[in-house]
Order: sequence, then structure tokens, then C-alpha cells
Amino acid sequence: MRREEPKVLITEEAIRRRVGRLGRRISKDYARVENLHLIGVLRGSFIFLADLSRALTIPRSVDFLAMASYETDGAPKGPARLITDLRTDIAGKHVLVVEDIVDTGDTLDSLMSLLASRGPASLKCCALLSKQACRKTEARIDYLGFEVPDVWVVGYGLDDRGCYRALPYIGVRSDEGVD
Ligand code: PRP
Repeated sequence: MRREEPKVLITEEAIRRRVGRLGRRISKDYARVENLHLIGVLRGSFIFLADLSRALTIPRSVDFLAMASYETDGAPKGPARLITDLRTDIAGKHVLVVEDIVDTGDTLDSLMSLLASRGPASLKCCALLSKQACRKTEARIDYLGFEVPDVWVVGYGLDDRGCYRALPYIGVRSDEGVD
């Protein structure tokens, strides 16, 4: 049986414009550094990272790590943990963590503490989406795409039980109460 198409919450065009703006702002802020090291948090950030990295006009490099905070059925699993580490040493580098969404903030807080302990020259975070209503931790976001309501969002890298990651827009399941 085919799944119902999610309702559009943020259009493809709005994402494209916002990512372009983020790229310009980040490029300006890091204009004086030799290289910006982007760290994508798998799996959800892979599409955002691909577009953001191409929107930058400064020298940059890319690495990935994976954190897990939810079981595949969407049930909370407890503290976020590192399940795949970086391939590069970040000591002395200017690091920008790229997240698809900050929800409770557990993943971002755990990750930033871990990365800070490795001695980067600077450490900031860029998140496409934030659910401030769900926040349990401080989870500082230096560059944000969009604030979203407390609904399960999918598309542009984000999934619902493995589906919808390739949608070009951010959507919500049709049974969620968002107009
Ligand atoms: C999502 C998202 C963040 C995290 C945010 O990852 O990519 O990393 O949850 O949630 P939090 O703020 O409540 O910690 P998820 O565990 O769904 O894995 P995925 O990226 O592989 O889909």
C-alpha cells in the first residue's frame, strides 16, 4: 500500500532561499579562516549538508559522524550516543556541525561536548530546523534555518521509519494537525 503524501510545511523554494542565505552569512562570518570543516550528523543532515556546502563561497572540507537518539519505530531510546566517528582529527580546526533538526537538544549537547573535548579552534552549529517547544537542554544553535512546531516532520533528509528522506520539501504526516 502506498503511503499518503505528507502535507507541505516548508516548500522546496523556501528551503532553497534559506539555505542560500545561510551559505552567504556563514561565508561572511568565516571569510578570514583558512578552512571551515563541516561535520554532518548522519543520517538526517545529508541533503542539507550537500546543499549548504555548495552554497558556501569559502574553502571548506567535510566529514560525517552518526549519533543515535531514537529507535527505528520513533520511540525515545535515551541519551544520544556516537555510533560512527569522524575520519579526521578536528584539533585546531574551525568546525561547523550541520544538523537537520534539533528537537530535545540531547543529541546536539552530547555532540558539542564530545567535539569540544577534541580541541577545535572554534565550534559552532548550523541546524536546518528547530523544535523549541520540545527543548530539554540549552542546545545552542548558531545558524538556524526554520523554527517548526511540535509535529513529526519529514523530507529533505528527515524520515518517518525510513521513508520520505528524499522528499524535496519539509512535510508533515497528513494525520498531524497543522494547517
Ligand atoms: C534526529 C536528528 C538529530 C536528532 C535530534 O536523528 O537528525 O540528530 O534526532 O533529536 P534530539 O534533539 O531530540 O536529540 P535521528 O536519531 O532521528 O536519526 P537519523 O538522523 O538517522 O534519522
